[in-house]
Amino acid sequence: MIDYGEAASLLFESTLMLTMSNTVVVTGGAGFIGSNFILQYLMAESAAIVNVDKLTYAGSLINLAPLQGNSRYRFLCGDICDRELIKQVFSEHLPTAVVHFAAESHVDRSIRGPEQFIRTNVQGTFTLLEEAREYLSRLDPQQRDRLRFLHVSTDEVYGSLGEGDSPFTEDSPYAPNSPYAASKASADHLARAYFHTYGLPVVPSNCSNNYGPFQFPEKLIPLVINNALRGDALPVYGDGRNIRAWIFVEDHCNALRSILMAGVPGETYNVGGRSERRNMDVVRAVCAALDEFHSDSKFVPHENLIRFVKDRPGHDYRYAIDPSKIERELGWKSNETFETGIRKTVAWYLSNGGWIEHITSGAYRGWIREQYG
Ligand code: NAD
Ligand code: TYD
Repeated sequence: MIDYGEAASLLFESTLMLTMSNTVVVTGGAGFIGSNFILQYLMAESAAIVNVDKLTYAGSLINLAPLQGNSRYRFLCGDICDRELIKQVFSEHLPTAVVHFAAESHVDRSIRGPEQFIRTNVQGTFTLLEEAREYLSRLDPQQRDRLRFLHVSTDEVYGSLGEGDSPFTEDSPYAPNSPYAASKASADHLARAYFHTYGLPVVPSNCSNNYGPFQFPEKLIPLVINNALRGDALPVYGDGRNIRAWIFVEDHCNALRSILMAGVPGETYNVGGRSERRNMDVVRAVCAALDEFHSDSKFVPHENLIRFVKDRPGHDYRYAIDPSKIERELGWKSNETFETGIRKTVAWYLSNGGWIEHITSGAYRGWIREQYG
């Protein structure tokens, strides 16, 4: 016999709509870009932030120490591959947006051990998308319109450019070359498919190389600063002529806030600072800033520490981003030139020796031995 009471209550439950809270869920917010984003966002906006981060070697809560006691900020230590945790995050915090940074992010590590990249970058993104889709289905039409899923990605998915090629646009074909780039490309494709298939309001962005405060010293710029301060060799891969497009991290975070506010779901935005430099010129610029700010160092001129080392396997020659679309459609522009950004960055590392000490203790030394011998 049909139990009409039970059937009615089941129907009621399935149509019960949720009310969103003014909260943004950030993943990977204890890493380099994520922590800069959270600090900037809480200064500029009124929403609360819940930060879900596994605290791998690349994440540090010291970055977010100024937020202790801030009632608009909450930290949850957890893995984005943990489906139950992610489900709980959505149902407990009822966010208006997700800003997804969490990833394994270093190309050289992906070459030595790609598996973790597939797990976090592909499986983790899939888990987030699935739970976001489930959450979307429980929102009323007005709230659905408000929801955003910012998928933060990289220009490396587009592959490598030659000297005279035009910079990457949103229409450039995908051609990832490293396991890192391939894992991010896979995640981008999933994010795109969730928009087209399920109407999840995903907004992907692809940004060029970031630099600035809190960057882990495995990436070129902070590695060079850290090594130069210690008088260690500054390793330049190959002939140092490879080209990257650089953006100061605060400019990237500003761009993400613009996208959160006005970006159109399903539309991709390429973000870059119109600052292409050869690796040798980047290293020389860092050395020049160190010579100036740290003129009493016994390692002046720091350029004498430069050493050419074995090239990275499959090293992409050139990345360049055309940010015209986000400039034109969202009115965003980068504030820093490479020259002003590098000076700010070197000054930050010089006055945050405690941060470097903390971050480079333990496992970091093992990585440097393994990678550079
Ligand atoms: P990062 O390596 O500094 O930080 C990654 C953060 O994610 C860390 O806090 C780490 O603990 C966390 N994390 C890793 N695996 C996790 C997991 N399974 N679950 C939860 N948290 C996890 O990276 P970043 O440089 O800040 O980059 C952030 C995002 O921006 C990445 O998606 C990256 O692909 C993208 N991006 C980076 C750059 C760049 O130049 N750094 C440029 C363009 C795009
Ligand atoms: P990196 O900061 O690792 O970023 P990505 O590989 O994602 O662009 O490297 C930036 C460039 O600097 C890249 O061309 C590789 C080069 N590089 C070196 O020459 N020496 C180094 O020790 C590192 C880490 C990078």
